[in-house]
Amino acid sequence: MLYKMLQFAQMKPIDCGPIYRNGRYYDIQNKDFVDDISFYLHKIKNYGEPVLELACGTGRITIPMAEQGIQITGLDISEPMLAQAKRKAERIDIEWVKADCRDFKLSKKFNLIFVPFNSIAHIHDLESIKSCLSYVKMHLKDNGRFIIDIFNPCLNILTRDPSNRYPVAEYPDPDGKGNVVITENNVYDSATQINYIKWYYKIGNQAKEIVEELNLRMFYPQEIDAILYYNGLMIEDKFGNYDETPFMSTSPKQIIVCYIYE
Ligand SMILES: C[S@@+](CC[C@H](N)C(=O)[O-])C[C@H]1O[C@@H](n2cnc3c(N)ncnc32)[C@H](O)[C@@H]1O
Repeated sequence: MLYKMLQFAQMKPIDCGPIYRNGRYYDIQNKDFVDDISFYLHKIKNYGEPVLELACGTGRITIPMAEQGIQITGLDISEPMLAQAKRKAERIDIEWVKADCRDFKLSKKFNLIFVPFNSIAHIHDLESIKSCLSYVKMHLKDNGRFIIDIFNPCLNILTRDPSNRYPVAEYPDPDGKGNVVITENNVYDSATQINYIKWYYKIGNQAKEIVEELNLRMFYPQEIDAILYYNGLMIEDKFGNYDETPFMSTSPKQIIVCYIYE
């Protein structure tokens, strides 16, 4: 117990609260992204249920899974993201859990646990990653699988000139204030491997932009493979995209399927 408390105290706080303060904005911005859903459905067919999605957010993936009759639990640290998920899924049977994926205890074990859509990039320090993986292992059934989906770090993006702005998204404001235009710039710190991104929201005719910070830790291919291995997880498959093409240098993603070996 004391060890657990000390371990938690060593972890860096999660700093992505502000960017996820409004689940409705998140959904509008991400509504067209569905590429990963059929990938997870296919994996559930192979590995079975129940399923746990870590960092489930507004249920972008969780809800379509449950609509197919899959027994799924969605866990997230953000109250506003979970509130939006619950609003959308009032009549659907999903267990929602508000918890930190670095420290959670559920009453059952799962055939499949996944952390999708680069969410692990919000976990910045090694102690936190170790802790998250230890809870994953605690909640995986024998022969269960864990899937992690993160960027393959792109040096061209990380080293962009921070004085330039780059387009992110554009959509109608859900409160009718005009168009929301989001641009970004970034500064990459190669010592911590954290990409410090700023998102600039220009809403309708408002003169002042809203600025939000999004700090994403990069995981290099050999590094994430080693982290998983030395935390007791054996890699079964590593894909470069949701179409299950094998991972290679030019792949946009690292999608890793692993299982407990110790
Ligand atoms: C990019 S969103 C992904 C949401 C959803 N899975 C999807 O694919 O649309 C990242 C999510 O990670 C959650 N998150 C960040 N750190 C977390 C932590 N330590 N524990 C649980 N959730 C966390 C955020 O609250 C946010 O909902």
